[in-house]
Amino acid sequence: MNETIRDDQLRLLFELDADLNRIQDLDLLLEEVLRGARLTANADAGSIYLLESSQLQIRYSQNETLQKRLPAGERLVYSIFSLDVDNKTIAGYCALKGRALNIPDAYRIPKKSPYSFNPQFDRLGHYETHSILAFPLKTNTGALIGVLQLINARDSEGKIRTFTADDERLVSHFGTSATLALQRAQLTRTMILRMTKMAELRDPKETGPHVNRVAGYATEIYQRWASRHQVPSREADRISDVFRMAAMLHDVGKVGIDDAILKKPGKLEPAEYEVMKTHTNIGASLFEDSLSDFDVMATQVSATHHERWDGTGYPTGLKGQAIPLWGRITAVADVYDALSCHRVYKDAWPEERVLEEIRTQSARQFDPEVVDLFFECLPNLRQIFERYPDV
Ligand SMILES: [Fe+2]
Ligand SMILES: [Fe+2]
Repeated sequence: MNETIRDDQLRLLFELDADLNRIQDLDLLLEEVLRGARLTANADAGSIYLLESSQLQIRYSQNETLQKRLPAGERLVYSIFSLDVDNKTIAGYCALKGRALNIPDAYRIPKKSPYSFNPQFDRLGHYETHSILAFPLKTNTGALIGVLQLINARDSEGKIRTFTADDERLVSHFGTSATLALQRAQLTRTMILRMTKMAELRDPKETGPHVNRVAGYATEIYQRWASRHQVPSREADRISDVFRMAAMLHDVGKVGIDDAILKKPGKLEPAEYEVMKTHTNIGASLFEDSLSDFDVMATQVSATHHERWDGTGYPTGLKGQAIPLWGRITAVADVYDALSCHRVYKDAWPEERVLEEIRTQSARQFDPEVVDLFFECLPNLRQIFERYPDV
């Protein structure tokens, strides 16, 4: 590595590498990759695009300046969009050519360049983009998986500067290890998706987008809870990572329910409903032999996501704080999604009615604090709803 790269920068890189290797979850990993890349170049903002169905889909966006304008604990809401892999946009060009693009000033791109800068987001967010570094994320076989774009590098006094050749080298090293970690996380995610797919094959009500949304809402609510209860942010991120996977598997126990009951079109008879309720304990039994954080959490989510705050839920009738937090949060997330979406037996409810129902069930079916947090992060939940549409 180049000699001008300082010791503290090297140390930072090693620490970030170690962090990435610990993270299992894809979404959190992307957030961390972006945070790490921004730190190495002291960049104010950045985005990650992943290549999906030959388009660059935006997956994460961070912006320190815009974040600082929000109240503490609030998370930035950014628009969801995708770009073509062509030479018209900066990220598209970087993906097409498979090499980094270092732009000193977005508003002074020479006219003869094939790509141009779209100032629309700057205008919307009252932000000024100047320097840009777009970097391709490639696997060891050279296949492109996405683009990492950093915005507004800053000098030690916080003044915006151009990205240097050193920045490019550091971000390139970081990009390589990030790609490896991304591939590994994708594998873990794939295994869990296979488990949920199995559940879906048995019960068409539990679809892939549904479990992704429930897991997304659940972790968003947990992040709020963690900031309110002063859980250090690193610890909260690690826990969210595990919780997301556990929440995805909330109904995996349905694989053990007889088809005649699981797929019955009409209302269940009382005896059949009793059998249906056992999906909670069946799910829990899939994870209870092991002692990892994930197994403990997945056991609790399966076992308690139908318990009610007032003690009238199933399978045990646990009450209030006796229900683990993971079950209390998943309960709200699961019901919010079920009511908001069309199911074979019901139409999607209008949002107003869904929110009314959740408010009414506060301190009855749901933990009142979780309901509070739910309403606090509603804009972020709506965004998750958009990110995983039913197919
Ligand atoms: Fe369930
Ligand atoms: Fe569900």
